Amino acid sequence: MSTLEGEYEVVGLDMHESTGRDGVKVDITQKQEIMESIASIAPNVVVHAAAETNVDRCETERDHAKRVNVTGTTNVAEICAKIRAKLIFISTDYVFDGVEGNYAESDEPNPVNFYGLTKLEAERAVAKISPKSLIMRTSVLFGWHPNRLNFATWVLKGLREHQTTRVVTDHVNSPTLNVNLAEAIKMAIEHDSEGILHGAGSERISRFDFAVRIAEAFDLDGSLLVPVEMEDLGWVAKRPKDSSLRVQKAEKELGVELFGVDRSLEEMVRSGP
Ligand SMILES: NC(=O)c1ccc[n+]([C@@H]2O[C@H](COP(=O)([O-])OP(=O)(O)OC[C@H]3O[C@@H](n4cnc5c(N)ncnc54)[C@H](OP(=O)(O)O)[C@@H]3O)[C@@H](O)[C@H]2O)c1
Repeated sequence: MSTLEGEYEVVGLDMHESTGRDGVKVDITQKQEIMESIASIAPNVVVHAAAETNVDRCETERDHAKRVNVTGTTNVAEICAKIRAKLIFISTDYVFDGVEGNYAESDEPNPVNFYGLTKLEAERAVAKISPKSLIMRTSVLFGWHPNRLNFATWVLKGLREHQTTRVVTDHVNSPTLNVNLAEAIKMAIEHDSEGILHGAGSERISRFDFAVRIAEAFDLDGSLLVPVEMEDLGWVAKRPKDSSLRVQKAEKELGVELFGVDRSLEEMVRSGP
């Protein structure tokens, strides 16, 4: 939000707590409720990032996952269409099966878990209901956040507390610095982009190698990182092995640099606690 706030009037909507000065609480599964909230704000653009993102929970609680990710997104898309607001829907690299990696926007999705399937169904609903919308797929979001851990801050916390931390070697993605994604979203608003764009980090890297680079960037003891494989962790849902995203189309269309890991971590070191 802070990336946009200088130039736009931004209103944050959240499920439980208010975010931002004018925060509004909403549940996207309640169509009437969000209809009233969004219509009263009368936005030009809606950036829809709400989702059930717990991949294992989506696998075991399928009705819930579908209700939030598909019905909720359908509700948001219908409201945007009705009030003629531009919709930017944040989607995921998990729509791909992870066999090849380095996916372009034109590659065929083939999710391997229920979370990915719900996000793909949501993408299709958005494209159908609101054809001028933008679907922005991202991957492994990380960066400073006031109250939630993400992969990078989880690794940092473990290393700073001198804990051994098991990290997978056979899970490859495109780690994306949160503020860099925000910049890409801002440029997408300014360019009125449509269709699908991959707004993610520009480097394809395994979680383990990423964790090592985090340790190096923050001058922490990387020997505490223990390489493991996905099957050692007992995850409920299958994960794509390499869901890395090709980002050149977004960089060109939006005129934005999508950072590699070193640049992202430099930014975190510079701005962080
Ligand atoms: N994190 C990643 O690595 C990653 C990678 C690729 C794509 N994405 C996508 O990026 C977006 C943001 O991800 P994130 O990691 O920031 O997820 P997150 O921390 O789980 O945030 C999702 C938000 O959605 C809210 N939410 C859940 N159910 C809702 C409902 N029924 N109505 C309204 N709000 C609801 C959650 O509220 P509560 O937590 O308060 O319930 C939470 O604030 C998601 O669309 C996700 O699919 C994330």
